[in-house]
Amino acid sequence: MRLSEPAFDAVVDMFHRVSGIRLAPSKRQLVIGRLQKLATEKGYASLDDYVAGVVRGSGDREELIKVVDRLTTNETYFFREPQHFDFLSEWLGSRPAGRNLRIWSAASSSGEEAYSIAMLLADHLGLQGWEVVGTDLSTAMVDAARRALYPLERARQMPKDYLRRFCLKGQGPYEGQLLVSRALREHVRFLSGNLMQPLPEIGQFDVVFLRNVLIYFDPPAKREIVQRVSALIKPGGYLFTGHSESLSNLQVGLTAVRPAIYARA
Ligand SMILES: C[S@@+](CC[C@H](N)C(=O)[O-])C[C@H]1O[C@@H](n2cnc3c(N)ncnc32)[C@H](O)[C@@H]1O
Repeated sequence: MRLSEPAFDAVVDMFHRVSGIRLAPSKRQLVIGRLQKLATEKGYASLDDYVAGVVRGSGDREELIKVVDRLTTNETYFFREPQHFDFLSEWLGSRPAGRNLRIWSAASSSGEEAYSIAMLLADHLGLQGWEVVGTDLSTAMVDAARRALYPLERARQMPKDYLRRFCLKGQGPYEGQLLVSRALREHVRFLSGNLMQPLPEIGQFDVVFLRNVLIYFDPPAKREIVQRVSALIKPGGYLFTGHSESLSNLQVGLTAVRPAIYARA
């Protein structure tokens, strides 16, 4: 299928309005690849007609959500960027016992990050006194995170001991997959949340993981997001970003303490 330039521009504008992310002109092939199945399923003969009907049209909100879901980049896996988990372990060791702990995986994608945090907390603190919240723009990803069923290869970096203690290995039709244990799932909640808009009421957090999402935004949007997210970090708490995402020059009142780790005064 092909996609004309005006139709591509309409997709870019809509996605920017909804997510804050502006797709570069070089992403046209990627957009075609991601949307053509949706267009065929809806019975459209061409992508341009689909864009005219759904993206430009549109009263079809449900279909528009599918378009946004398809355009987000959701790559993630358990214990990605392990330095953050090492820091968290150290910090948990030095923290006074008995205080409730809340951690937010902002842009949680399919949930591997939130469950990795939960495994670490369960290991250090047992199954009491903490909560993990995950939010993501993509409703499909929020649903996947709630299902908590993953291909085993996403757990390559997960400590073997955690795999045994916190996951069920699939058998029969679930061969090659893992399910996060119910005990852990009960401490992790997932909600839809758009970082470019006022967030749902989720309270304040000791640590926020805001990783591998800022790269998609221009500097003004990046600053807006970091400010919105920082407001939900408790004084003395931490913000983790992806190691390829720098907050320098943003002037958002956070202090760098290690690579990709910032403290709120
Ligand atoms: C590459 S994943 C990062 C997952 C995880 N944090 C990690 O580091 O592995 C980026 C996620 O950001 C989400 N996202 C993109 N724009 C967003 C927005 N405006 N608000 C909330 N989430 C957004 C996407 O849906 C996607 O799931």
